Amino acid sequence: MYQESTLETKIAFIAGGTSGINLGIALGLAAVGAKVAVLGRNAEKAQAAATQITEQTGAEAMPLSADVRDPEQVEVALAQVSSKWGKIDILVSGAAGNFPAPAIGISPKGFKTVVDIDLIGTYNVFHLGFKHINKNASLIAISAPQAVMPMPFQAHVCAAKAGINMLVKCLAAEWGPAGIRVNGISPGPIDGTEGMDRLAPTEAMRQHYMQQCSLRRFGDPTDIANAAIYLSCELGNYVNGTILTVDGGTELGDTSADCLSPPAKSKS
Ligand code: COA
Repeated sequence: MYQESTLETKIAFIAGGTSGINLGIALGLAAVGAKVAVLGRNAEKAQAAATQITEQTGAEAMPLSADVRDPEQVEVALAQVSSKWGKIDILVSGAAGNFPAPAIGISPKGFKTVVDIDLIGTYNVFHLGFKHINKNASLIAISAPQAVMPMPFQAHVCAAKAGINMLVKCLAAEWGPAGIRVNGISPGPIDGTEGMDRLAPTEAMRQHYMQQCSLRRFGDPTDIANAAIYLSCELGNYVNGTILTVDGGTELGDTSADCLSPPAKSKS
């Protein structure tokens, strides 16, 4: 049967949902009916995000401050949501750290910091979230093209995001029999986000990322929100263990050749 997409009565928890792509996801889920809890490290930023969500969508929003690297803080935040609103239906893990640096210039602590935020943070949110989620819950990790494309200055992020992809598949395999779906979204270059501003601080760098993308344009946070809605509502209820790539064709690799102009006639 074809399904309508609504998340009325659903409860969403978005780790990292206080800014950028993850705030876009929170706004999208709220716009189609979910109550959303947004978690970030900074309490003021979390409050501002919750206020924005309610003002923009009319949905109930709860601000939470915690560091995803700290299991105790994550547990407190999850318990706060499930005790106030009930079990969580949509659990998004999107908190991430990034700084462009050559592998040789990243200290062991710097490398560990990014792996801790991205990969261990996702493990903490999903592992600890297990007892706070509903049966039939949708879990979504935010991956990146770096998970499958080696990129200079991104060794730490590539390693962390590749780990996330495999974690998604392992949890999907283990928890699918309980009705829980675990998927990832791999966003390409999304305009107006801190991550993109850090990776492409100059116009030349922006052009570089645009040329790497088959569609030759940046995406918008709503593109990623739509993917999260799809994975969370009835529309996506048979999707499990996949990494949904929403990157305008960035992962396709080299698309620089001009394949659309008529071929030049060869001289006989
Ligand atoms: N180049 C090399 N190393 C760097 C670095 C850079 N540009 N920025 C941070 N590091 C290293 C630090 O030097 C430190 O290691 P050291 O003590 O051995 O020198 C380590 O990373 C931890 O940095 P610190 O600032 O103490 O940790 P933090 O938890 O506050 O920082 C980061 C988190 C590193 C992810 C930081 O970049 C950040 O807060 N980023 C904002 C979030 C973000 O990146 N969002 C976009 C996600 S796509």
